[in-house]
Amino acid sequence: MKSLLKSTALFMALLMLFSTVALAAPDGAQTTVDEWAAEWENIKSDDSVIALTPGSDESQMNFAWLSALYDFKPQFKLSKNSAMNNSVAIPVASALTIVGKITNKVTATELRPGTEYYYSYTEKGLWSKPEAFKTGSGNNFKAILVADSQIGRSGDEKSDEVLFNDSFGWNATLEAAFDANPDIDFILSAGDQVETAGTNLQYNLFLAPSPLRNIPLATTMGNHDFYHPLYQYHFNNPNEFEDEVIQSPGGSGYWFTRGSALFIVLDSNIPAPVHQELLVKQAVEANPDAVWRIVLMHHSIYGASGEPTGANLWRFYAPVFDRFEIDLVLSGHDHRHCRSYPIKNNKIVADGEGVVYLCANSASGSKYSGVPETQPWYAANSSQLNAPAYTVLDFEKNMITINTYRADTMQTTDDEYVMHKQAPTGAVPVQSLLMRFFAAISTLIMVIKASL
Ligand SMILES: [Fe+2]
Repeated sequence: MKSLLKSTALFMALLMLFSTVALAAPDGAQTTVDEWAAEWENIKSDDSVIALTPGSDESQMNFAWLSALYDFKPQFKLSKNSAMNNSVAIPVASALTIVGKITNKVTATELRPGTEYYYSYTEKGLWSKPEAFKTGSGNNFKAILVADSQIGRSGDEKSDEVLFNDSFGWNATLEAAFDANPDIDFILSAGDQVETAGTNLQYNLFLAPSPLRNIPLATTMGNHDFYHPLYQYHFNNPNEFEDEVIQSPGGSGYWFTRGSALFIVLDSNIPAPVHQELLVKQAVEANPDAVWRIVLMHHSIYGASGEPTGANLWRFYAPVFDRFEIDLVLSGHDHRHCRSYPIKNNKIVADGEGVVYLCANSASGSKYSGVPETQPWYAANSSQLNAPAYTVLDFEKNMITINTYRADTMQTTDDEYVMHKQAPTGAVPVQSLLMRFFAAISTLIMVIKASL
């Protein structure tokens, strides 16, 4: 009885707290504070929530979920109808984890473009409710960029109130984005999904929003995600980079394609430019016809905080991005919005002749950083609106239109940017022995600096 009273008191407090911050819903479809509170205990405890990840291209879709140790043979099936008639069983790759669970991964292949499929999987021997997803088709598609949902960051992460606050904000942003853009094909999350990498509770809350049952989510590892394998247990990333020398406990970078675009996802926690360059090279070589080369990484190397702090990351990454003619680098970490002018050789250049760096603000509102008094020299637009945000990237074969919105009012931040490109980028640059030597020296210096 005592615990029931305590629990009731907590939720009364939560409801009073959130009654003043209910988000504006364009069509009233958003989850309310009461609804989130009613499902709270289920959301927190659902370790088996499934995550969809983009497959290598439109013909594939990846899935991952955790199951109990005694759940010996998890299953997965795919169908073209919600009744799961004529379903096809797809092999599940299951593995023991260090968190007392089984991680299960599935890759659905040979999917038809622009087609709706339904999937269902088992947990504790029971089949889940069938959920739908749609495969991509052609060069026109839409993605959203979010960053630093960082569930648990807004205060004491052991507090239910903090976790409720952050997860409610994250869910509200996704729902608002999908209300306004029901044609979103996939989500790019620029890292720091959770506050503490080894906490499954925070992953449960991060993965709780219902759009994530139907839309693939391409994440990257932030400095709050990389140091524990829970990240790799929850996400089945395609074309993972295998580096025998250095790799984060959470996993590695990876790449995938959509339409005419190549997405290269880097683990920017690895202080080794050679490692990053090898992944970029591998991805570019595998996709010579890609018109767009997009990088997703957590740390922002031309962000709103001015000259990057600590390791001066731009010195190591920017030359690689210049050499491989990357068009756009999407990041987070700074908890501020910043879009750079096109940059090459650390100088502002004309549109289409350099790399554009876009750093997203927090998608959950769990933390906002201040902005420096003066705008960095490379910033075309930077702001701190102290509101959760998401960015829409509207792709066409030769054009990308980028718009950022605050998720509480759905207002644009007036930072529309349009990129044009007519043909595939250049061939893979040859890395000379001299460049390899300097890259090795750079790596050595970074490792020494980091150890001091
Ligand atoms: Fe971060």
